[in-house]
Amino acid sequence: MTAFEENAPARKEIFRLLGIETSCDDTAAAVVEATFLNGDLIETHVLSNEVWAQHDAHAAYGGVVPEIAARSHVERVDDVVACAMASAGADFEDLSAVAATAGPGLVGGVMVGLTAAKAIALSHGLPLVPVNHLEGHALSARLTALIPFPYLLLLISGGHTQLVAVEGLGRYRRLGTTIDDAAGEAFDKTAKLLGLGQPGGPRIESAAGGGRASRYDLPRPLQRRPGCDFSFSGLKTAVRLLAEEHVDKNGALDGQAVADIAAAFQSAAAEHLAARTRRAVDELSRDGEYGHLVVAGGVAANCVVKSALARVCDEAGWRLVAPPSRYCTDNGAMIALAGAERLAAGLAPTSEDARAFAPRARWPLAPPTPGRAHGGGRKGPKA
Ligand code: KG4
Ligand code: ZN
Repeated sequence: MTAFEENAPARKEIFRLLGIETSCDDTAAAVVEATFLNGDLIETHVLSNEVWAQHDAHAAYGGVVPEIAARSHVERVDDVVACAMASAGADFEDLSAVAATAGPGLVGGVMVGLTAAKAIALSHGLPLVPVNHLEGHALSARLTALIPFPYLLLLISGGHTQLVAVEGLGRYRRLGTTIDDAAGEAFDKTAKLLGLGQPGGPRIESAAGGGRASRYDLPRPLQRRPGCDFSFSGLKTAVRLLAEEHVDKNGALDGQAVADIAAAFQSAAAEHLAARTRRAVDELSRDGEYGHLVVAGGVAANCVVKSALARVCDEAGWRLVAPPSRYCTDNGAMIALAGAERLAAGLAPTSEDARAFAPRARWPLAPPTPGRAHGGGRKGPKA
């Protein structure tokens, strides 16, 4: 520190943001107040956090229907924003800025939230911060705990499965991703196969509560493959074959078989996530700077997954940081915080660029690390 910096007064900034999230099937809005001292986040208050889940609208189709999602966001977004503002006791004039998910996600939904944010920003003379949904998840643990950079992030949601070295705001290095399905997608497809309905993850977790995981031996994917990539499609096929084997003559599975298969799947998925994460932990431990594993995304709400990751951290002398489940699944608070962090760091786009920002269906958080064999689907890696 120079003599000049030593004598400079501390710079304290408080940002209060409305965050809007509409990238999948949750219409969400939140108001967050974040305090920074000399650019470092020192305090976060979530003043409100409203989520309107659309599960019922999609139930009959066994998955999220993009057109229905977009229409439901249009119908709900104004009310959800009004609720978030009212329960925070905030007026638009009190806000520092409006942040909205600008991608990646279902583009029709992203368009609704981003357009609503643009309209609010324009009519109240506020800055607009378009936010990468994955950056929202990556920073979500900082809503409740002041985890310092750098840390290892395991992002496990319905559309994404990634291990990322979070070196700082906007500095992400991808260590691994899925070569086929995302972790949440595997939970959702397994739930559908077992007739448990949607959202699959929580239903698998609750069905598995009454089951015996040891009854079936499911494969552990990629055991001999080096690196930190994931794969869930083999597990999904094994579950399908197991379910077909156990149906009665009417094509139905008995309740105990459903519970046991759900438990066996959950345990295999958790072990797979933990095994690949262990490799990234070992790799970053050599660096010496890393000691925190942050888990984010909807699947991070799963207790069996969290326990498996806690064991990995215990063995390595690391700390596991898992945000409360309301901040693991999609929410507006993480988007507001990511917007505040970008404003504080001077990394938000100019107002002209923000106004022109187009919704993005694909927007990778981090490019693949050169020399690593990341997989891809028909349209490129899902994550
Ligand atoms: O992060 P999120 O809310 O939305 C996306 O960005 O995808 O994640 C949703 C995913 C769904 O696949 C859901 O089934 C899964 O997270 N999920 C869970 C649990 N709660 C939500 N998976 C396993 N166990 C849970 N308790
Ligand atoms: Zn998400």
